[in-house]
Amino acid sequence: MKRIGMLTSGGDCQALNATMRGIAKALYQMYGDEVEIIGFLDGYKGLMYQDYRVLTPLDFSGILTVGGTILGTSRQPFKLMREPDENGMDKVEAMKNTYRRLRLDCLCVLGGNGSQKTANLLSQEGLNVIGLPKTIDNDLWGTDMTFGFQSAVDVATNAFDCVHTTAASHNRCFIVEVMGHRAGWLTLNAGIAGGADIILIPEIPYDINYVVEAVRRRNKRGRGFTIIAVAEGAMSKDDAKLKKKEYKRRVADMLKVYPSISYEIADQIKEATGQECRVTVPGHMQRGGQPNAYDRVLSSRLGTYAALMIDRGEFGKMVSISDRTVTSVPLSEVAGKLKVVPLDNDIITEARMLGISFGDR
Ligand code: F6P
Repeated sequence: MKRIGMLTSGGDCQALNATMRGIAKALYQMYGDEVEIIGFLDGYKGLMYQDYRVLTPLDFSGILTVGGTILGTSRQPFKLMREPDENGMDKVEAMKNTYRRLRLDCLCVLGGNGSQKTANLLSQEGLNVIGLPKTIDNDLWGTDMTFGFQSAVDVATNAFDCVHTTAASHNRCFIVEVMGHRAGWLTLNAGIAGGADIILIPEIPYDINYVVEAVRRRNKRGRGFTIIAVAEGAMSKDDAKLKKKEYKRRVADMLKVYPSISYEIADQIKEATGQECRVTVPGHMQRGGQPNAYDRVLSSRLGTYAALMIDRGEFGKMVSISDRTVTSVPLSEVAGKLKVVPLDNDIITEARMLGISFGDR
C-alpha cells in the first residue's frame, strides 16, 4: 500500500484542484486500491498540527474546473519555520512526526517560492518530497511556466478589455494594476494581451518623465486615451537605486498617501498632463475563478508526472516544464531563487516593436 500526502500552500490560484486531481487520477490508475491519499488542511499547518483528511477517488471527481483548493491553504513563512510556535512546538519536528506517524511514502507540495523552500527543507530533513509549481506570478525558478499563471493572465486581460472601452469614451488615462509580487510576468503578458500603451514592471525601473512623454505622444497623435499596465511591484529609477531598507521606508511613506504605487503614478500623470487618470485594481480576482484550458492541461500533465515520479522513487524534486516538455528539477536548485523577466527576453523587444513604452527611455 502506497500512502501519499498532499498539501496546497501559500496564496491560492486557479488549477490547484486540477493538479491534485492529475496526481490522484494517475495514482489510482497505477495502483488501484493499493494507494491511499491523505490531504493536509490549510497547507503546512495541517502537516504541523495533524489536521488531515483521508481522501477518496470521489474527492477528486468534478474538481478539474473548480478554482481555489479543496484542502484550503495558508501562508506559513519559511523564515519562521525554524522558530517554535506560540506553544513552543518545533514546527519542522512536528511535520516530520506527522509524516512518520502516517507512514507516508511521499508528500506532494503544491506551492510557490516560499512553499518550495520549505519543501526543500523537509527533503533535506529526510522526507520524500515532490514539489508542484503553483503561482499566478510565474516567478518560480526552474520551470518555464507555473500553473495558475495563464488563468490569471486571462482575468487581468479582461480587466484591460473592460477599461479600454470606457477609457476611449472619456478620453482618460487608465492604469490597471496587476499582481505578480516582485516579477513582471503577469503585467507584461496581460499588458500585451490587453493592448496597453505603457507597461511598467519591476525589472525595468521607470522614469515618470518618460511615462508622461508617452502619454503626451499618444494625445498628439489624436489618441485621447492611454492604457497603462502597472505591476504592483513597479519601481521608479530613483527607487531602484535605494538600498533595501531605504526602499522599504520609501514604500511605507508612499503608502501613507496612496493605496498603492499606481495611484502615485496616476497623480503624477494628472499633474503633468492635466488629463484625468483613473486606477483599476483587479486584485485577488486574478487568483480566482476557474482555471482556463491551458492551465487545466498543464496541471493534468504536471500532476500525472508527479505520480510517475512517485512510482520511480524520484524525490527531492519539483515537477517543471521546459520547452513544452514536462520534467523535474532538484528542489535544492529551486529554493530561494526568483525567476524574474530577463531584460534580454524576446518578449521585451517585441513589445517595444509594438510601440509599447516601458517608461525607461
Ligand atoms: O503570489 C501570489 C500573489 O497573488 C501575489 O501576486 C501578490 O503579491 C500576493 O500573492 C498577495 O498576497 P495575499 O493573498 O496574501 O494578499
